[in-house]
Amino acid sequence: MSKYKAVIFDLDGVITDTAHYHYLAWKRLADAVGASFDEEFNEQLKGVDRMGSLELILARAPRGFSEEEKLALADAKNRHYQELIATMTPGDLLPGALDALDAVRAAGLKTGLASVSKNAFTVLDRLGIRERFDTVVDAATIRNSKPHPEIFLTAAVQLGLEPQDCLGVEDAVAGVASIKDAGMVAVGVGRPEVLTRADHVIPSLSAFRLEDY
Ligand code: BG6
Ligand code: MG
Repeated sequence: MSKYKAVIFDLDGVITDTAHYHYLAWKRLADAVGASFDEEFNEQLKGVDRMGSLELILARAPRGFSEEEKLALADAKNRHYQELIATMTPGDLLPGALDALDAVRAAGLKTGLASVSKNAFTVLDRLGIRERFDTVVDAATIRNSKPHPEIFLTAAVQLGLEPQDCLGVEDAVAGVASIKDAGMVAVGVGRPEVLTRADHVIPSLSAFRLEDY
């Protein structure tokens, strides 16, 4: 029997590889405004909401931008991102994702999703997995993006559970911080040298073993 009552998953980069689509869309924008951009800097953007990510990129650009320009840039990035996700299908689930969700429910635990993306429901529907979550918290429900703990705390409240009953699963530095500051145990998906605050790190959900945490 598990010591947890629920597992709360991040979406982008954990369940499906939309983290790469976000990367491509931000990279094009960064190139257009003359901001340096690479995979290492991109780690700081993962899990951070759209306007927050834009601010981090524009801080590296050679000039300042008006609020109007910022909104137009964020809009252009989102249109590009939406083009990239438009052709997604259930085949775009990352290896191990469905098995991990099944294993959690088979063990009698609840499933939650915590994504700061305004496109989360679109992605869930394209993947055909909306019904597999007992609760979904997205950008519309929260005021503070990751790394603030609000999104994971809200998921716990919606599941009727205490934070310590929940395990969080994240690929982002900001996301792991959100889980830890919510008082939950964190499973990082990625590299241990990047996800230094995670309690456990696995390379992908294929290696997710509830009994190990
Ligand atoms: C997060 C991603 O899930 O959602 C970030 O990790 C992204 O990279 C954020 O910026 C916001 O997404 P959207 O779809 O609202 O622009
Ligand atoms: Mg993520």
